Amino acid sequence: MTDDALFEIDELTVRYRMRRRQARAGRYLKALDRVSLRWNQGETLALVGESGSGKSTLGRALLGLIQPASGSVRYRGQELRSVDRTSFRREVQIIFQDPYQSLNPRSPVSRQVSAGLDIHRVGRPGPQRVAIGLAALDAAGLRPPETYWHRYPHQLSGGERQRVVIAGAMALAPSVLICDEPVSALDISVRAQVLQVLAGLRRDRGLSLLFITHDVSLARQMADRVAVLYQGHLVEQGPTEQILQDPQHDYTKELLAAVPGARLRSTP
Ligand SMILES: Nc1ncnc2c1ncn2[C@@H]1O[C@H](COP(=O)(O)OP(=O)(O)OP(=O)(O)O)[C@@H](O)[C@H]1O
Ligand SMILES: [Mg+2]
Repeated sequence: MTDDALFEIDELTVRYRMRRRQARAGRYLKALDRVSLRWNQGETLALVGESGSGKSTLGRALLGLIQPASGSVRYRGQELRSVDRTSFRREVQIIFQDPYQSLNPRSPVSRQVSAGLDIHRVGRPGPQRVAIGLAALDAAGLRPPETYWHRYPHQLSGGERQRVVIAGAMALAPSVLICDEPVSALDISVRAQVLQVLAGLRRDRGLSLLFITHDVSLARQMADRVAVLYQGHLVEQGPTEQILQDPQHDYTKELLAAVPGARLRSTP
């Protein structure tokens, strides 16, 4: 792991405009309030916090999908808005919570996995892209990959669908992967398998991983560092061990109390 900054977020504030009927408490909802956070290259950072705390908003802001009200996001030392979009879109991939959202029900696995390759012109069309796609399925634990290539999403289990999503992202050989609640739609045994796939990819490819989760035990399992969001405020950040063993903020203590054993870090 190096100490080079991958993303530097400085005093980031994001507001959503509310519809008139919802706007009793004001026209804007502040989803992030002056959040400052550093995510280093090669690091797995867990972003934890309860529902509505602003986790996904922060993920979207990192991708440049949201215009902040104030503050800045830098990617590899450069203001996000001046970063070359084409290479950024290839380098930085995101996996969402619900694989149904990310997959087109009318497209076979082959299309889902090779769509990004076509867009970014990775490899030559034809056999070379097929080979890259099959290798990505294999790396995502769908083996043998040929048996999945022509299937449609409805012919896959939830865990298999999420692996297809992972394969689609990994086919582009990204250096950065943002996982927004990647396993919360999955049952417990499948969850462990998908986490294993992610941990393996991180190890083998040196990925920088942002793990967005409301589940502190997943942060313990996956992350080098943890950042805690509470109602749009970043209340605490630090090495996983330090945050879990010696939380400073009351909210972090509450989060940990809700997860039996979260404070006792088992040896990995
Ligand atoms: N497009 C939007 N328009 C208006 N408000 C939004 C929008 N997206 C999110 N919000 C609000 O902003 C706040 C933060 O939402 P966000 O999705 O970032 O939370 P989260 O931490 O990811 O929650 P969850 O764990 O439920 O996914 C919430 O109060 C949410 O209702
Ligand atoms: Mg979310």
